[in-house]
Amino acid sequence: MKIGILGSGSMGSGIAQVAAAAGHEVLVFDTNPAALKLAQENLLKILNRLAEKGNIDDATSKAIFGRVYFMNNMQAFAECGLVIEAIVEDLAIKKSVFEKLEAITPKDCILATNTSSLPVAAIAAACERPERVLGIHFFNPAPLMKLVEIIPAIQTGPAVAGQAKMLIESWDKLAVLAKDTPGFVVNRVARPFYGEALRILEEGIADVATIDWAMTELGGFRMGPFTLMDFIGNDVNYTVTETVFQAFYYDPRYKPAFTQKRLAEAGWLGRKSGRGFYNYTEGPQNPSPAKDKNLGKTILYRILVMLINEAADALYFNIASRDDIDLAMTKGVNYPKGLLRWADEIGIAKCVTMMDALHVEYLEDRYRCSPLLRKMARERKEFYG
Ligand SMILES: NC(=O)c1ccc[n+]([C@@H]2O[C@H](COP(=O)([O-])OP(=O)(O)OC[C@H]3O[C@@H](n4cnc5c(N)ncnc54)[C@H](O)[C@@H]3O)[C@@H](O)[C@H]2O)c1
Repeated sequence: MKIGILGSGSMGSGIAQVAAAAGHEVLVFDTNPAALKLAQENLLKILNRLAEKGNIDDATSKAIFGRVYFMNNMQAFAECGLVIEAIVEDLAIKKSVFEKLEAITPKDCILATNTSSLPVAAIAAACERPERVLGIHFFNPAPLMKLVEIIPAIQTGPAVAGQAKMLIESWDKLAVLAKDTPGFVVNRVARPFYGEALRILEEGIADVATIDWAMTELGGFRMGPFTLMDFIGNDVNYTVTETVFQAFYYDPRYKPAFTQKRLAEAGWLGRKSGRGFYNYTEGPQNPSPAKDKNLGKTILYRILVMLINEAADALYFNIASRDDIDLAMTKGVNYPKGLLRWADEIGIAKCVTMMDALHVEYLEDRYRCSPLLRKMARERKEFYG
């Protein structure tokens, strides 16, 4: 089956590499010829590097490159069985592109969007046959990240998500099914990792280095929240938070932080601009963490229980299955453990008690305990008080 990729930016080119490595002929189109040329040059570089390092042999590297065609028009999508759109995150532009795609592609061609934050139903609505439209959400960088979220819209035909899931799994990816709700699984459940860390910072409980230390050294997370926000880019991370917050009708659980907004406004975007929460230019020393174990545990459990609560609520609202929620967080954002499994290890009742303590302290809806977490504790006859 030929695969079409619309948009040759970081995501489009990564997805093209994955599909070509799985043996498909891949047609890549971008409206910007410079982006197309750059994607072609980068793909060649990446494949050469993989061959030099011995990850793949020379012939395979050449064969993968030979299967990717960079096109300056969309007409060739007429031969595709699946087209994945990875263009700019703008609903109006995506809708107009899906309208065009529908006119070019065969009737049974699956049309997918890689959107991170837009409703798949709204994109599908641009098509006369929305039953063949769904979300196929890869993570960055697509060739390295195992997870892919498959998001059927309410209009998606009953067989389409299953077909897409099987195909994506044949690309050596782990596919989880997610409901068409803001942030799907990963970008929803991960919000407190950033939001609660920012709140702790704003309250003056600890500085960025100490919070990062608590999450990595005591929690086993690969990167602390501030290092990760600097890595993602404070502009990008802030926008995702704001989008999720608005999409959830301003639920205080997802409220963005002024601290991050100011960083974005100041141009302190993180690694890419040389300065974010940390300074990446040579010169000033970054602060060292206060390695106070008690403080570290307070920080870790406050952020962790908020993450667990979010995971439980995603399960409560049937966003994904229990296993898929845990898989999504371990494979999509490399968490050291699935959050629901982690909750079992801590003890569900203990998690409820921690949530209730935060709620009593702040009297904010942000800290409301998920009804499912409470129910699970009750059903297991775990005591909490
Ligand atoms: N970057 C990430 O971490 C990430 C992760 C998952 C999903 N996404 C989603 O993937 C999509 C693409 O993101 P990206 O980071 O690759 O963006 P990008 O800016 O790197 O690339 C977008 C590309 O689309 C092209 N383009 C714009 N309008 C077009 C059109 N009408 N037709 C054809 N090409 C067009 C641009 O020229 C550009 O090359 C977005 O929907 C984004 O939300 C991004």
